[in-house]
Amino acid sequence: MEKEISQAVIGRLPRYFRFLGELKDQGVERISSQELSRLMHVTASQIRQDFNNFGGFGQQGYGYNVEYLYTAIGSILGLDKKHHLIIIGAGNLGQALANYMNFERRGFIFTGIFDINEKLHGRMIRGIQVRPMEEMQAFVRENDVDIAVLTIPKESAVSTAGKLVEAGVRAIWNFAHVDLDVPADVQVENVHLSDSLFRLSYMINRYDQETKAAAPKKDSQ
Ligand code: NAI
Repeated sequence: MEKEISQAVIGRLPRYFRFLGELKDQGVERISSQELSRLMHVTASQIRQDFNNFGGFGQQGYGYNVEYLYTAIGSILGLDKKHHLIIIGAGNLGQALANYMNFERRGFIFTGIFDINEKLHGRMIRGIQVRPMEEMQAFVRENDVDIAVLTIPKESAVSTAGKLVEAGVRAIWNFAHVDLDVPADVQVENVHLSDSLFRLSYMINRYDQETKAAAPKKDSQ
């Protein structure tokens, strides 16, 4: 049986992939775990432990081959395959995601966008027209769509997820603020940008507290 990889390790892989992609673009051929550690602000031992989950990715001592590591991590993340993706909800967020080209470079092909608002139907977003929801299920089947992005209000997200699953999507990238109830063979990734913002707020708080604690007290002078 294959070894179960922890969610924490999987959660770090996209960041490794991003840094290695940048190194590759800069023409760097080899990198040691110490150098990678310095660049990424994680310990070298963490990097080695993470990579050991996948057999270590080759030689230590004189470093990792950047191209090989980049390709291997990309393949673990499934980025060597193409995915057809539709967006449900052509509002602010849906349009912003549709306009972000970088996903296509990674193999996520933006194929369709759907909305219940008929005023939006026929509007073109990066060459793709907004379609009515009534066409969604047939579109999923005919276009081999495997991923749906949910950028609609939470009130209708659960029922819409049900229709997507029925049509055959394999994964939902869920931006609606509600938990979806889908069968075990359908993958869901919930995204809450506010989580990231709250972490930032925590860091401001912590910094303020630490600098206050470190500052010399006026009455002690
Ligand atoms: P928006 O109001 O600009 O767009 C929502 C779109 O969904 C509208 O065009 C509307 O006609 C459409 N829609 C509503 N019900 C639908 C249904 N059943 N089927 C298909 N289309 C439907 O809203 P915005 O700013 O784009 O946000 C969309 C959702 O994403 C909201 O629920 C918001 O709370 C959430 N959101 C989540 C974030 C996150 O980090 N998870 C960040 C920003 C927004």
